[in-house]
Amino acid sequence: MRKIVVSGGRSLKGKVKISGAKNASLAIMCAALMADKPVVLDNIPYISDVKIMIEIIGTMGAEIRWLDSDVLYIKPPETISQDAPYEKVKKLRASNLLLGPLLAKYGRASVALPGGCNIGVRPMDLHFKGLAGMGAEIRLERGFVIGTADRLTGARVYLDFPSVGATENIMMAACLAEGQTIIENVAKEPEIVDLANFLNAMGAKVRGAGTDVIKIEGKSELNQCQRYSVIPDRIEAGTYMVAAAATRGDVLLENVIPKHLEPLIAKLREAKVEIEESEDSLRVKAAGPLAPVDIKTLPYPGFPTDMQSQMMVLLTTVPGTSVIVENIFENRFQVADELKRLGAKIKVEGRMAVIEGVPELQGAHVKATDLRAGAALLIAGLMARGETHISNPQYILRGYQDFESKLNSLGACVKSVTLE
Ligand code: UD1
Repeated sequence: MRKIVVSGGRSLKGKVKISGAKNASLAIMCAALMADKPVVLDNIPYISDVKIMIEIIGTMGAEIRWLDSDVLYIKPPETISQDAPYEKVKKLRASNLLLGPLLAKYGRASVALPGGCNIGVRPMDLHFKGLAGMGAEIRLERGFVIGTADRLTGARVYLDFPSVGATENIMMAACLAEGQTIIENVAKEPEIVDLANFLNAMGAKVRGAGTDVIKIEGKSELNQCQRYSVIPDRIEAGTYMVAAAATRGDVLLENVIPKHLEPLIAKLREAKVEIEESEDSLRVKAAGPLAPVDIKTLPYPGFPTDMQSQMMVLLTTVPGTSVIVENIFENRFQVADELKRLGAKIKVEGRMAVIEGVPELQGAHVKATDLRAGAALLIAGLMARGETHISNPQYILRGYQDFESKLNSLGACVKSVTLE
């Protein structure tokens, strides 16, 4: 069994380079299967979610390999040799993003119902509704989603909620459908815009990504893209920003797009954290006392649910009362119980958490329950007096490239250890 041991109480200081965006990379890797030619992708993070997606895509017959530490080569197969395997898919929720591309390009998709983090119900009804509206037949059979279609046809799709995954699946499928597709009430996350830019680089015609309505003119093939570079990971960046503030440090983040971090920057400034922005870097400093803040998670450009747990940790030692309302995933407060073990005062009622600032956290044994909860516990360990032992570190490895060496280069003391 592996765990992470953090010796807390050190301020983070120095520079850190942010890796490519996990969520954009996973979607773009799926979209690459729709190409007729090989594609090279730059700025792909070397994390376990990406490694699992490589295995899934490889099993289906694609040629896929690293050309460099963050450069991935993908040659789509002529035909799908094997369905996406359950053993892999259950570990990666984002494998549901194979559905749209496989249906559109190969006319058939069979993907085991996806797993991933245990943060709520996470249904796929909106994905199915969109693809069915384009003429696909979708059925569930023994834990697999099976979709078939001769050729998808363009349609008008309204999403009842701006789901990131549903927007991506329908947008990708529409690129190879016959005629025009209009998707209304779509997600506006930067990863959606990045995926649309990649699709357009391949020869698709996607307009409106980043607004509420996306229009796609279907094409019969996508064969123009040779190389594409993925955006930086705003959630990895956000996690280091909060870690810097929580340890009253001074950190320069490189390879970031500050615009993508606006909702977090605004909240941190409200909490009296100092932030200096430049074109592709951010400096985060917290010297004086911080102020409590209230947070509501919302679809982009609202405050991201993926940064909620990390902010909760920061607020545990801010004097006064802070309130967090989680509107996206109902199980995202599991980390509160772990934080209480470190001495935090948090009361959870339904979708609301009330945090009373305490003078300090003390190290303890805690357990990561999902990727962002794991990141939050790392930050808690950095803040706490004494040692914090975090079990289930595999959750953190899903989304944070080289987190141990990155944190230690900023002056932290973080060690992965293997227990008998
Ligand atoms: C993506 C991100 C994840 C992030 C989340 C919200 C990836 C790989 N993952 O997840 O990191 O936390 O966006 O920003 O990009 N819903 C439905 N029906 C559906 C689909 C979703 O009701 O068919 C609901 C979900 O239960 C949830 C909400 O919509 O309450 C948001 O989910 P969604 O935006 O789809 O998240 P993911 O794409 O799974």
